[in-house]
Amino acid sequence: MDHRDFLLDDLGRRIQSSTIIHLGEYALVVRRFDTAIKMPVVHTYDADTSINVCRAQLRQEQRIYRCLQPDLRQELQGVVPCTAVWGNTIELQYMSQGTLGQMLESRGVPSLPLQRRWLYQLAIGLDSIHSRRILHNDIAPRNLLLDDSLNIKFTDFGVSSIVPKNEDMHDFMDGYNCSMWTDLIQLGSVFYAILGGQRSVVNIYPNHGAFAEYPPLDTLPDVSHMWAAGVIEDCWNPRELHGGAREVVQRIKNVVSYYEDLEAGCTNLGMKRPR
Ligand SMILES: Nc1ncnc2c1ncn2[C@@H]1O[C@H](COP(=O)(O)OP(=O)(O)O)[C@@H](O)[C@H]1O
Ligand SMILES: [Mg+2]
Repeated sequence: MDHRDFLLDDLGRRIQSSTIIHLGEYALVVRRFDTAIKMPVVHTYDADTSINVCRAQLRQEQRIYRCLQPDLRQELQGVVPCTAVWGNTIELQYMSQGTLGQMLESRGVPSLPLQRRWLYQLAIGLDSIHSRRILHNDIAPRNLLLDDSLNIKFTDFGVSSIVPKNEDMHDFMDGYNCSMWTDLIQLGSVFYAILGGQRSVVNIYPNHGAFAEYPPLDTLPDVSHMWAAGVIEDCWNPRELHGGAREVVQRIKNVVSYYEDLEAGCTNLGMKRPR
């Protein structure tokens, strides 16, 4: 009899190591054709208690997907499409170009057209998520995936929360002090990473704490030399963004079209760059 320890899928079948994309603390992601399947981490000899913790985590993420994509045939703009939810697993469209983090690490600063496209797609994605009353709570380059055409989409709703129907999105804070404003701070940090070709620098969970905090403004990096400076600064100072992610979408559109006009030579020289 074979007593070696193997990873098992949700039906108790042994997982081939060549199919593993990622092995985390709670979740395992394996590739099957054009899907990535996220499932709880289960080893042959794991205790039931530890398996149950992983399963509960996946089931919470399934609940989030049911809010984001109540009809699985309809994708949500800017979010990695979920193709099926069964048992304790989540099936997602396979994103062939990996994470934003991997891309920045291997290729450095992206081209200007890619920077513009990604900022715009991310703002749209976060607006879609918030419009479904979900807080992402873990927006970081490792949780943003790229498809064949280098479109960027949100994934990993493992620590997300649902804003109850009787609460105002603008005022709501979950049990870990997360809110739409902390999502925007993290979004600004990802923008900074994209424009600088490096890792995000803003941490809303200081000292490895579980509770989110607004980072003091004077500890944040200087972005004045970046084309999206005004947008990033306002993401970091949420009092400036009453319209939330939807306002970020509009602001990026304005800045991008200002620069496109400038490049095409049709901007009035006296016109100020929009913030
Ligand atoms: N749909 C997907 N396509 C390709 N790779 C994926 C996909 N989903 C997840 N991954 C890979 O698996 C990693 C972990 O997935 P994630 O959902 O972030 O799980 P965790 O909750 O463990 O962080 C991602 O950073 C990415 O590298
Ligand atoms: Mg993750």
